[in-house]
Amino acid sequence: MKILVVGNGGREHALLWKLRRDAPHAELFVTRANGGMADLATSLPLAPGEMQALAGWAEQNAVDLTVVGPEAPLAEGVADHFASHGLPVFGPTKAAAQIEASKAFAKGVMQRHGIPTAAFQVFEQVEPARAFVREFGRPVVVKASGLAAGKGVVVADDTEQALAAVEDMLSGAAFGPAGAQVVIEERMTGEELSVFALTDGENVVSMLPAQDHKRVGEGETGPNTGGMGAYAPVALATPELMARVEEEILRPTVAAMAAEGHPFRGLLYAGLMLTPEGPKVVEFNCRFGDPETQVVLPLLRSSLLDPMLAIARGESIAGTRLEWHPGAAATTVLASGGYPGDYTSGLPIRIPSDIETGGDVIVFHAGTKREDDGTLVTAGGRVLAVTALAPTVAEAAARSRAAAERIEFQGRHFRRDIGWREAERAGAHA
Ligand code: AMP
Ligand code: GLY
Repeated sequence: MKILVVGNGGREHALLWKLRRDAPHAELFVTRANGGMADLATSLPLAPGEMQALAGWAEQNAVDLTVVGPEAPLAEGVADHFASHGLPVFGPTKAAAQIEASKAFAKGVMQRHGIPTAAFQVFEQVEPARAFVREFGRPVVVKASGLAAGKGVVVADDTEQALAAVEDMLSGAAFGPAGAQVVIEERMTGEELSVFALTDGENVVSMLPAQDHKRVGEGETGPNTGGMGAYAPVALATPELMARVEEEILRPTVAAMAAEGHPFRGLLYAGLMLTPEGPKVVEFNCRFGDPETQVVLPLLRSSLLDPMLAIARGESIAGTRLEWHPGAAATTVLASGGYPGDYTSGLPIRIPSDIETGGDVIVFHAGTKREDDGTLVTAGGRVLAVTALAPTVAEAAARSRAAAERIEFQGRHFRRDIGWREAERAGAHA
């Protein structure tokens, strides 16, 4: 079997790691392997955006399954390209990927189908948008509708800040075309939860819920990032809550997408807020989350490949049951000095050779590169995600932190409080 993974970050490293376990004899390929993927997969000199070339290569090489990691190529239609070559691909079509690529589209689907989410309106003109902010009278969140690499959201503390965000986005100054439409919505309160669901366009199989840490600083302070760490499972997400999430959110969303003519096949990621009125959707993503994948997949005991193949081939996943390892996982992201602002790349990284020997630590590479002389160097803002497994989230986080401390590169920084909410909950119940 030949499997191609598109993308080359920490999420894709975790996907390769899991696919290798599921299919020890498969030939794995990846677009422009990062510095940690060499043992797992053959690197192709093609970028995720080179859709024609990728589909051509996959056809020539009779690839059995292509798994697309990042949202950008999905939003550009990479899955449609593969499908038009008759190639099985795991990832939604361009039309279905709008659920992430256009927040205005996603909110419209939720509104039309009664899926719980914050009250909102969509605007393309500055003045009506500013008037809405003034009249709303309650705290709002202003979002660029298009893809903005997780940066297009302003959770406004006051009216002035909201008005400024509206102006910045709609003028095109902040996010270019991604800000041509803005969604202004009610500010919700509650804890957030990331839920991944495998779907064939009809059936939904949800995965272990996770939480991530988006802010750069300990105690959820400082600017937003792509994610500084994550953990799973989450005690708040009881079986009852998860049943409600499936019933009120996941199944209706998948049914809505099919009913509106763009069935969603692949991985639907629901970013939820657990509000006093119940779980509500903050956003949908059309792919696995990063770094949540680095904690969810190591806990998955049963095959990921089997349901992925079924979905990619247009088959049903009805009856699929995922099995999970007992215990917990936590991941700590090591970031470059300065991230999420400007940072330097090309700095040598030292990873002790015994770091993974216990079997309970996995170092997933994100922004790393192997130089011609074999030196591992930094090549991005988020450099590594150090995952650890243990009986509880607190123990997994401690193990992950201890391993992170042992990895060195100039200027590296990471949060030492991954999983603090879960630790507090456990403490409160002890
Ligand atoms: P998004 O890119 O839509 O996930 O938004 C990024 C982050 O902004 C979320 O993870 C939340 O922390 C926050 N956020 C987004 N929408 C809301 C909302 N309606 N109320 C409160 N916080 C929000
Ligand atoms: N961890 C957030 C995301 O992948 O969008």
